[in-house]
Amino acid sequence: MKIDFTKTDETIVEDLFNDLENAAKDPKHPFRLCVLATTEVDNIPTQRTLVFRGLLPSNEMLIFTDYRSPKLQEIKLQKQVSILFYHPEKKLQIRIQAIANIHHQDTTCLVEWNKLSKVNKQDYQTELPPGSDLPIGEEELTHNAEFGSDFFSIISLKPTKVDILQVSRMGHKRFVSRFENGMWNGRRVIP
Ligand SMILES: Cc1cc2nc3c(=O)[nH]c(=O)nc-3n(C[C@H](O)[C@H](O)[C@H](O)COP(=O)(O)O)c2cc1C
Repeated sequence: MKIDFTKTDETIVEDLFNDLENAAKDPKHPFRLCVLATTEVDNIPTQRTLVFRGLLPSNEMLIFTDYRSPKLQEIKLQKQVSILFYHPEKKLQIRIQAIANIHHQDTTCLVEWNKLSKVNKQDYQTELPPGSDLPIGEEELTHNAEFGSDFFSIISLKPTKVDILQVSRMGHKRFVSRFENGMWNGRRVIP
């Protein structure tokens, strides 16, 4: 992934999302993992590492999670979130503000659920909800396949602002663009 800062606003953002889409298909790509920031109920910011699963045609970024997880309760109260990607070799940071939307037991979930292996499905079938106390004396997680896809959910993130920072000995470069009135409006800014 190389950002061409001389291109037009729309093209820079388009190239970025094309690159993100390719990264999501490559388990070794640094952008396969992202950090999602949300706001806890008491207004405290919180973050976690997540697998970035791909893009919808609308450029909405997809994350899979357990419907019972605290991040979903946070998103229900505050849909504005931030997602961070970092490429250590290229020293490229992508910061994206987005509006989060929760999918649960809809067609988007069903399509993705059917692609998951039995082992991957187990991530969404723990007997107890994510974040709950491990019962005393139990070391292993217990799963219940009878839950099926009950707790499988997808967070889709509609981007509203992108902030691209390229750190380089040749000179740092930064580009910020906002999605306004149906189009991306960007400008170069001081890194
Ligand atoms: C490498 C890595 C990948 C992860 N991928 C996911 C993921 O795709 N979905 C997910 O819900 N949690 C994933 N997690 C776990 C989250 O970071 C987090 O601990 C968990 O989702 C609970 O978050 P919450 O309490 O904020 O809801 C991953 C953690 C690591 C370290």
